[in-house]
Amino acid sequence: MAILPILLYPDERLKQISAPVACVDETVTGLIDDLLETLYDSPGCVGIAAPQVGALVRLVIIDASRNAKAGPNQGRMILINPEIIHSVGEVMAREGCLSLPHLTANVKRAQHIKVRALNERGETWQFDASDFEARVVLHERDHLDGLLFLDRVASLKTDVFRRKRYVGGEEKTNSKA
Ligand code: NI
Repeated sequence: MAILPILLYPDERLKQISAPVACVDETVTGLIDDLLETLYDSPGCVGIAAPQVGALVRLVIIDASRNAKAGPNQGRMILINPEIIHSVGEVMAREGCLSLPHLTANVKRAQHIKVRALNERGETWQFDASDFEARVVLHERDHLDGLLFLDRVASLKTDVFRRKRYVGGEEKTNSKA
């Protein structure tokens, strides 16, 4: 296992469309281990997508439970080739990103989603997510299509904010994904 360096905006690799995982083999499970270690090494990090470490494959890990204000959530989830098969509602909320460490933004996301993905054993599964957890899934899935929250904001002038309160190099309240 290894903590991997995070690509930062405007790295061109963050704009690429990632390829589906064809087979959950040792390379993929090794990448999952590294992504887990990288996620849990970063305070406040609730999600990470493989392209953020330069691996252009459709794999994300989320853990909404790392945010005390997350509300109902399912904790750690490993999503391979995730698809949003249903979405309902719309909520505006602030989000952050490991690849844009000095910014947050107000982004509209669906309130409730149904997701289909493979797990780390290559089995298909489905789950429902709402509110904060749904936002994390949608944010990470965007990374697989080369999209950052800057691509989702209504206005770069009024909906994007510099992080202000830093404690030991990390801002205290807003989580990152
Ligand atoms: Ni992100």
